[in-house]
Amino acid sequence: MTEAQRIDGKAFADSLRGRLTQEVAALKRDHGLTPGLAVILVGEDPASQIYVRNKGLQTEACGMLSVTHRLSATTPQAELVALVEALNADATIHGILVQLPLPDSFDSDAVIAAIDPAKDVDGLHVVNAGLLATNQPALTPCTPLGSMLLLKDALGDLTGLHAVVIGRSNLVGKPIAQLLLQANCTVTMAHSRTRDLAALCRQADILVAAVGRPEMVRGDWIKPGATVIDVGINRVPARDPALAAEGKTRVVGDVAFDEAVKVAGQITPVPGGVGPMTIACLLQNTVTAAKRIAKI
Ligand code: GUN
Repeated sequence: MTEAQRIDGKAFADSLRGRLTQEVAALKRDHGLTPGLAVILVGEDPASQIYVRNKGLQTEACGMLSVTHRLSATTPQAELVALVEALNADATIHGILVQLPLPDSFDSDAVIAAIDPAKDVDGLHVVNAGLLATNQPALTPCTPLGSMLLLKDALGDLTGLHAVVIGRSNLVGKPIAQLLLQANCTVTMAHSRTRDLAALCRQADILVAAVGRPEMVRGDWIKPGATVIDVGINRVPARDPALAAEGKTRVVGDVAFDEAVKVAGQITPVPGGVGPMTIACLLQNTVTAAKRIAKI
């Protein structure tokens, strides 16, 4: 039996970053414009610290200005909002990202609402969410944008395909459903309360898993030949019990890859699928925001 083709998100992201590096050099040369990204990390969450470090390194590698603000978890909400407002007014900064999740004491919606929508490179402000929902030019959340680039590269025209999205988050599930609709898919949104999820998933030509539950989607949930986009990044104990006992971990997606690869037509691996696309799309959104702000 032939196995599913693996969708290589790392290679796609590398080439996207290469194109962005050239575009940034041209913006500097022709317009004296250096796109700038500010990332705010509140607290000590280990996974968030790794993400934020990688965002900074890749922003600089592309030739852009990178600024990282690290705040303690006990920072008052008003101080965080004041920092966002200062970055809104800073002409060297074109993109602002507040790393999520924020510690429990913060009101995330209020913090996101303080970001200038023109600099909201995460696409989470209600203005950008509304623009996306009404098919107007918006800054689009990075993981959905990256997933769509991979899907269109893998399948070409998506018109008429049935896409099932598992997960209804503002960060991934809802925006990816909007993008699939714009691409003329028939979209079904599923979530933790959906009845007979496995049977629904078996109807999907495109299955997007964004639930944050390790290997929840089994091989027999997948229609033979379907395209599977696995958005999950879950840390679980190492396969080898001796290593697991030492606390060693590995990263798996929301899809049981070893089962799914035997049924699907194409599938994103974890790691190396959607994950690398997220930062590449953040850089793309920063370039887009800088050009719009500078009216280029
Ligand atoms: N945490 C995990 N993914 C993301 C993301 O795309 N944006 C932000 N701001 N926080 C995240």
